[in-house]
This record gives sequence, structure tokens and C-alpha cells, in this order.
Amino acid sequence: MKIYDFDEIIERRGTNCVKYDMLGAAYGNSEALPLWVADTDFRVPDFIMDALRERMEHEILAYSFRPDSYYETIVNWMDRQHDWKIEKEMITSSPGVVSAVTMLIMALSEPGDKVIVQPPVYFPFFTCIKGSDRKMVENPLIIKDGRYTFDFENLKRNIDEKTKLLILCSPHNPGGMVWTMEELEELSRICTEHGIVIISDEIHCDLIFAGHKHIPLPKVSETISNNCAVLMAPSKTFNVAGLSAALVIIPNKRLRVKYDKVLNTIHIHSGHIFGNIAIEAAFRNGYEWHDQLITYLEGNYKFLEAFVTEKLPKVKIMKPEATYLVWLDFTAYNLSEIALAKILIDGGIALNNGSKFGTGGEGYFRLNFGCPRSVLEEGLIKMEKALEKKED
Ligand SMILES: Cc1ncc(COP(=O)(O)O)c(C=O)c1O
Repeated sequence: MKIYDFDEIIERRGTNCVKYDMLGAAYGNSEALPLWVADTDFRVPDFIMDALRERMEHEILAYSFRPDSYYETIVNWMDRQHDWKIEKEMITSSPGVVSAVTMLIMALSEPGDKVIVQPPVYFPFFTCIKGSDRKMVENPLIIKDGRYTFDFENLKRNIDEKTKLLILCSPHNPGGMVWTMEELEELSRICTEHGIVIISDEIHCDLIFAGHKHIPLPKVSETISNNCAVLMAPSKTFNVAGLSAALVIIPNKRLRVKYDKVLNTIHIHSGHIFGNIAIEAAFRNGYEWHDQLITYLEGNYKFLEAFVTEKLPKVKIMKPEATYLVWLDFTAYNLSEIALAKILIDGGIALNNGSKFGTGGEGYFRLNFGCPRSVLEEGLIKMEKALEKKED
């Protein structure tokens, strides 16, 4: 078995990467340690790089299509990783998950219609809705037993005849929740009862920690399978977000035809030559690498948990069940977000401000632990020093 090295430090500065090279613009401190943008500092695995290099060597990079082998590897991955049996016909595409959300909103609702989001949540959803001239309706998550869950009573109160869509983030960013069958069943039941289609963003579905199991939404019931669109991608797991390649899986033909009409109208259905190759290579050969990645991320989380519990007891962790993101509650410091953000960035560490994630995010910061452990340790030490100074 090949052993992959996730401890390797790779210099990313100077590659036009958002995480490092936009720190100055975003935080005014280009030297800070960036634990913000949700990509990882891990090398793209050799089996993806080899496939890309081999194709590049041909030196004609003209129009291409997705071969049968592309669809077969996706069908197999879904079966092996998620016990989810899908047909080739259900699989369509998008350059990205966020663009797919916007295209689905355009395909499945009209201007002025209402779209539900459940904040705090991945904030580009807000732009997808508002930029499409739809009305955003919030059903904020509630905290129960230390984890987020859905507020079904508030959801029911907020639905009216204009409500057409709900955007679900599953697993959840920023909280890291892997939604349970009970949670998904009730959410699906309420939505289908009111004719609401669920756009299920499952981009983090391959980053699940031991003891949890991701449930692709269509597995919940035949009814919701016919009333949802699932968005997945290798981008987070295999660190290929720059290759513009995502999967849109829509079991219901009527909904799929509507989505494909938008995709074909914009004329972006063929995808990116290297994105398509990366998807196939990742899902064909990624099983062993993926197991090692999860083990490493679990180790990083354990390290972070031990550090924060011992050295930063005022910071409360929402324990992630998935993703390489952790949602940290700083409310015990009794400081404004602006004040806390300044303390952290002056201390040399860049995290995401919680309020960006919408209602309920104030007082929290999101930390990305998808990096070598030594980098994570350096970041945590900076955080400890910055907050210690504050206590003086
Ligand atoms: C929940 C979620 N959806 C979508 C994305 C981005 O997807 P894409 O780059 O394919 O638009 C991210 C990236 O952080 C994410 O966390």
C-alpha cells in the first residue's frame, strides 16, 4: 500500500491562490497564517496529476466530451462510498457547485419566488438567491445537544405559496454536521408536502469522520428523490477546486430537463477538459488515498480539540462530524466580532468571521484544519498568544 505524506509543506505563496495570495487584500496582513478559505494545503494525489499530465502531453486541448468510463467511475464511487445506486442518465454537470445552485434557482423558480436557507451557512448561497431576484427566507438552525439541527416549526411557519426551493448544505458548512436520517426525513416530508424542491449541496460528502455516515438526499425516500437535485464534486476532497468541475445529480427527469435547458443555453455543458479528467481519475483511483486523508484529518481535529480544550478553554468547539472546517464559539470573550477579528489578525492568524455565514454566526469564527499538522499547530499557538495578550 502506498503511504501518502500529508505532513509535507508546499509553498503556495506566489501561485495566485486565494488562501495565501489574497490575505493582504482580505485582511490587511499578507503574512498571516491562513486558516480561512475552504481548500487544503495537501498535494493533489499522484493518480490525478499523472492523468492530467498524460492528457496535457498530447498538446491538442480542443473540444472534448465525457466518455462512458467517466460516468461508470462516478456510478461506482457513489455505490461504494455512499451505498447510493444511481444511473448514468441522472448525472449532469456544472463548472462549480455554486454556479449549479444559481442555475437550479433559475431553472426551478421564477423571479420573486422564495428560497429558504438555513443559516449560519455557506454564504455564497445568499448571493445566488438575491442575484437571481428571488426572495431569501431564513430558517435559522438551532443548537441542540451541542450540534446544529433544523427548526421544523419555524420552517412550517415560513412557507407560503411563493416558496419554491430550499437550499440544504449536507454535510453542513460551517458546523460540520452530518444530517441524520430522522432530520432529513422530516425536512423532506415538510418540503414535499408543500411542493418545495430541495437543492442539496453535498460537496463535503466525502469528508466524513468515523461514526457518521453521509446520506445522499435521494436515499431518504422515493418522494424526495423526485423532488431534489444533488450537487457533489471532487474539489474539496482531492483539492482540485481550481479545475471547475462539479456533478449535478438529478434523479427526476422532469427536473433534470429543466436544469439542462439552462446549462445548455449558457453552453457550458461540455465542461473543462482537465476537470473531467480529474473527476474520473479521483473517483477511479482515489479510494486508498481518501482513507488516508480522512485518518489524517481526524488526527488534525483531535490535535485541535486537545489544544483548544487545554489552552483556550473559553473557546467552545462545535464538534465536526465531517469536513475540515471547525466552528468555534468565542462568545465567552464578550467582545465584538470586529474586536476579536482584529486580535486574531494582529496575532497573525486569519479565520473566517462568523457573521458572514448569516444569522446565528455572530460570535463564531470558522477555522480550516485541512493543512499539515505543523501548520495547524503554528496557527493554534498564534491564536493562544493573541488571546492571551487580550487577557493581560
Ligand atoms: C458548502 C459548499 N458549497 C460549495 C462550495 C464551492 O463550490 P464551487 O467552488 O464548486 O462553486 C464550497 C466551498 O467552500 C462549500 O463549502
